[in-house]
Amino acid sequence: MIKRCLFPAAGYGTRFLPATKAMPKEMLPVMAKPLIQYGVEEAVEAGMDIMAIITGRGKRAIEDHFDISYELESQIKGSSKEHLLDDIRALIDRCTFTYTRQIEMKGLGDAIYKGRVLIGNEPFAVVLADDLCTNGTEDGVLSQMVKIYNKYRCSIVAVQEVPMDQVSKYGVIAGKKIDEDLFMVETMVEKPDPEEAPSNLAIIGRYILTPDIFDLIAQTKPGKGGEIQITDALMAQAEKGMVMAYKFKGRRFDCGSIDGFVEATNYFYQQQKGEA
Ligand code: G1P
Repeated sequence: MIKRCLFPAAGYGTRFLPATKAMPKEMLPVMAKPLIQYGVEEAVEAGMDIMAIITGRGKRAIEDHFDISYELESQIKGSSKEHLLDDIRALIDRCTFTYTRQIEMKGLGDAIYKGRVLIGNEPFAVVLADDLCTNGTEDGVLSQMVKIYNKYRCSIVAVQEVPMDQVSKYGVIAGKKIDEDLFMVETMVEKPDPEEAPSNLAIIGRYILTPDIFDLIAQTKPGKGGEIQITDALMAQAEKGMVMAYKFKGRRFDCGSIDGFVEATNYFYQQQKGEA
């Protein structure tokens, strides 16, 4: 059983300045819900209940969000607004939230490595909260990945096809197709130029990792951008054993960009209007 989910959330969110000057980007709301809450809900749906969050300076609002606000709750008790806290209250009751800080921004691989102390020696999921994923009322992306993990017991990355001129924004894989929507990774490159990309299958912010990844990250030298890249550590893991890439079912919004954020907002707005 995968019980733990890691949320690297130490980044500066510079693309959303000035909004992110004093507020974590993970707290930006799509409709009335912060991005990171969507991620936690996806993890809970996949059976996880220990959320390990890698924060940094200026990220206290995340901790406060996943905690009770007694003053607020007593203020709105019995009013028509009380139900607006039901979902977050249910998450707080069900999950344990643990935190550690990434002191220096040394890349996603380093951020994940900082989570070692919170994860221990078990397989775990990773969610990058600015990739907002939805599959309507069907299984979420992490749930789909857990099912694959239960069969293959190896690290898995979620991928989607992107236009060739977009590949340099992502980790890109190529591999042997072993099932519908499932590839055994043979190559993996962080943010390649289009001419060098092995395919147009881009990694999005959902991973399941086996704990041997930690020693591999520790051995990983700085790569693209001078940062410790999880993509490089995963490539080492693929060479030693097996890593899968899964073309997930559902939609993913790149809420790390203004375009993706607006798209997500429109999508969820339409969904909510449809339900009303
Ligand atoms: C990170 C990873 C990259 C992956 C992407 C998904 O990049 O390094 O391999 O494709 O997340 O969102 P970032 O977007 O943090 O630059």
